[in-house]
Amino acid sequence: MHPSEPDRLTLAQIPTPLVELPKLAKQFGIERLLMKRDDLTGLETSGNKIRKLEYVLADAMARGADTVVTHGGFQSNHCRATAAIGARLGLRVRLLLRSADADPPKVGNLLLDHLFGAHVTLHDPDEYSHRREALIERTMQTERAAGRTPYFFPVGASVPLGCWGYIRAVAELVEQVGRETPIDLYCATGSAGTQAGLILGKALFRCDRWRVIGVPICDSVAYFDAALRQLIAETVAAFSLDLAEADTPIELIDGFIGEGYAIPYSEELETIRQLARMEGILLDPTYTGKAFTGMLATIRSNIIRKSATPVFLHTGGVFGLLARADLFSVPSSTP
Ligand SMILES: Cc1ncc(COP(=O)(O)O)c(C=O)c1O
Repeated sequence: MHPSEPDRLTLAQIPTPLVELPKLAKQFGIERLLMKRDDLTGLETSGNKIRKLEYVLADAMARGADTVVTHGGFQSNHCRATAAIGARLGLRVRLLLRSADADPPKVGNLLLDHLFGAHVTLHDPDEYSHRREALIERTMQTERAAGRTPYFFPVGASVPLGCWGYIRAVAELVEQVGRETPIDLYCATGSAGTQAGLILGKALFRCDRWRVIGVPICDSVAYFDAALRQLIAETVAAFSLDLAEADTPIELIDGFIGEGYAIPYSEELETIRQLARMEGILLDPTYTGKAFTGMLATIRSNIIRKSATPVFLHTGGVFGLLARADLFSVPSSTP
């Protein structure tokens, strides 16, 4: 790994497999289509978040924290992974969750947050968006007043420390495909830490023939371009990485958000059904369904580099899929 790598806990089941999607490749008339199965980083911790938490929680433990405080949507995969790891490490977990519904169904990730024993509070979108800093500060103060040592990290653990999760994942992928192989690596971009880590890793390990392509799932390309630029610059500065801005080009593709965060659309649902039937692999309706739809549309539009193999980074989300059975009309029996 890289000499600047900070300490980490070993929490994720890695290396994750890199698999071929042969039937889909054939259907799209391309030689190879690959998937990096980061949905298999561990059952309770499945998805991309656990790679970031390895670094962030190592820091929390080193600072003597006994409580972690984080936030996200009420079906947040990041919060569920934090809750699972908190239970394993004996940390108290406080989750501040955004929910328009004061009593959302206890299914999917939210059910698991409770099963893992996390302390959950729900906050309406207005409070969550506009008064979050105060809410976090109040929560930290409450924990300190109770004699505990809380440690805060933001949604998705998308901070410079967390970026190391996907810097390390690039090193893993170099072992699997080789840095000389031209690949177009697609991922869902939600809080930007995954894509920022991939971009940094690609630069640090000199994967000059790779491209990292993010598919925004909630905010505009302009928003994520700025967010990625900032997070990359902060990480470069925090770890004194020998990189210039030109070493870390940002590529994002537009048009696959639909009407907004966690609002699926029909083409996306068709993608989820198609991958399930053709390859036996599950995508989720909030992140990977949108990103995979974006990748397939790009392949279909023929604007891909002919010389490169598309690789989809599967970042997980299965529990979010199971929470949205309502999206799929499923008969009681099929003839
Ligand atoms: C399943 C899944 N995929 C992708 C993402 C996006 O990753 P990031 O937040 O690092 O941009 C998230 C979280 O936001 C997620 O839960």
